[in-house]
Amino acid sequence: MALTFHKLHPLFGVEIGGVDLTGPVDPVAFGEIRAAFEEHSVVLLRGQRIDDAQQIAFSQMFGPLETTVSTNPAGGTPFARQSNLDIQSGDVIPPDDRRMLYQKANFFWHTDSSFKKVPALCSLLSARLCPPEGGDTEFASLRVAWAALPDDMKGKIETLVAEHSLAYSRDLVDPGVMSAAQRAEIPPVKQRLVRVNPINGRKALYVSSHASHIVGWPVAEGRKLLDELTRHATQPAFCFAHRWREGDLVIWDNRAVLHRATPYDSVKYKRLMQRTTVAGDAPTVAQ
Ligand code: OGA
Ligand code: MN
Repeated sequence: MALTFHKLHPLFGVEIGGVDLTGPVDPVAFGEIRAAFEEHSVVLLRGQRIDDAQQIAFSQMFGPLETTVSTNPAGGTPFARQSNLDIQSGDVIPPDDRRMLYQKANFFWHTDSSFKKVPALCSLLSARLCPPEGGDTEFASLRVAWAALPDDMKGKIETLVAEHSLAYSRDLVDPGVMSAAQRAEIPPVKQRLVRVNPINGRKALYVSSHASHIVGWPVAEGRKLLDELTRHATQPAFCFAHRWREGDLVIWDNRAVLHRATPYDSVKYKRLMQRTTVAGDAPTVAQ
């Protein structure tokens, strides 16, 4: 069956129809999905009532999967679970519980796994249960952000390297949210501020809430630059919000977009999103 393509936003993002992930995906169709991912940075597939095994099988077509860090409720598995439901009992987790607090860091604009030496290629988020209101996920194009920078700023930042850490972004929510052992598990790493897509040569401004400062710069000055660049990258014209329906699968390019969660009433509604994350193939810079 032929695939159909509809843009999600004038600048990036595409919805692809004619795919059924409950069965095997043929290599030709996958080739088209992969090419659309490289081109559009965010790909939406609707109506995919998949289980964990089917999600893993499709995700692995993009490459080997990451294992989630131990701070996530599904830590040590291929899944990052974004949910207000207890993983064992399925009961709603109270809003002041540490697990809900931890998820609040998703409200900051970020790119997944930039705190790992080899940052992620892409994430695949499957909507299993959605609240009827709230809980959208927003996306911002880091390619559009790069292209829109003035030339003098491009020249200034092209070779810069930032330090990223999970502890930095979690501390913005609450400095008590990560234990010493969890901090030790994922020490800070270095990432280039500007990344080039190896397939189409397009550049992206690689900022994220995990980025704490610029290597070799006074911390406050680097922080100021990162804030300014993030504000630039997330201006409304460069962003769109995805309103979830159950069965949606969204694939995003962690090299080329920022994303963030938005609030929902976690006492009243259930939300269960399962994320698989495809590993990247190399560090962005020598560590
Ligand atoms: C993620 C994430 C946002 C959301 O799964 O990586 O940031 O809206 N999710 O759940
Ligand atoms: Mn995320």
